[in-house]
Amino acid sequence: MIEGYVHGYHARENERLQDQAGALVELLHHDTSYPPGSTVLEAGCGVGAQTVTLARRSPGARFTSIDVSAPSLAAARRRTDAMGIANVRFRQADVFALPFAPESYDHVFVCFVLEHLSRPVEALAILHELLRPGGTMTVIEGDHGSTCFHPDSGAAHLAIRCQVELQRRAGGNALIGRQLYPLMIAAGLDAVHVSPRMVYVDASRPDLVDGVTRKTFTAMIEGVRDAAIAAGLSDPAAFDAGIRDLYRTMEPDGVFCYTFFKGVGEKRRPA
Ligand SMILES: C[S@@+](CC[C@H](N)C(=O)[O-])C[C@H]1O[C@@H](n2cnc3c(N)ncnc32)[C@H](O)[C@@H]1O
Repeated sequence: MIEGYVHGYHARENERLQDQAGALVELLHHDTSYPPGSTVLEAGCGVGAQTVTLARRSPGARFTSIDVSAPSLAAARRRTDAMGIANVRFRQADVFALPFAPESYDHVFVCFVLEHLSRPVEALAILHELLRPGGTMTVIEGDHGSTCFHPDSGAAHLAIRCQVELQRRAGGNALIGRQLYPLMIAAGLDAVHVSPRMVYVDASRPDLVDGVTRKTFTAMIEGVRDAAIAAGLSDPAAFDAGIRDLYRTMEPDGVFCYTFFKGVGEKRRPA
């Protein structure tokens, strides 16, 4: 396990990552596909929540999916095996010490990983080195500062800020989505284009109420309750009021919005 990984690796978090990926597939991946024969490095694949979508959408591409966590990789492997996915190989590796030759991949894909790293530009620069000239890098991150909801609630915003603060203390950045463009440029990528992907949830979309508001976002904030209280960032009553108000947004007149950011850049070809 990597030290300070704010979400942890327990079973509930693994389920949350799968729910998140399932609910957001179209929003995040409708424009992700890789040509047959191309090689793709997925950095920080976790339990394979994005891996299965990537591999199925690009059945002719060959994926190498790495993560530092051996238990997560084992879960990812079980998942792809169960689905009969054969174009992915998994490998345990740290993004900061990758066992691959420079310019050995056509594409790199990174999702919800930079937010946990204290040196995100360095990580992107290392991944950039592994790209062939003309290859692409796709980076997806959320930004908790983009959250808005109805009915609005100061208590809910405070609970969210506890998560942001805990992640900051662990060396990460839960507000990193808004920084994708400058981070990718600083890592040396060319032709960077970032698109915001807002998920808007109201009662007319019960699948999103359940998959996004309940099982992805509120579950994540609830997951830091004990840590936030132990760190003195909140008291139990205030935190629980915030969580209650997030559940309130799932009622028939409630609304929840969150914006992800997807950046795609290229490795410059020599002039
Ligand atoms: C929030 S999970 C995201 C997993 C997956 N990309 C997804 O979208 O469901 C972040 C993952 O990054 C991995 N990770 C964090 N730091 C890493 C590092 N230095 N090298 C490789 N993986 C890392 C963690 O082990 C974890 O599985």
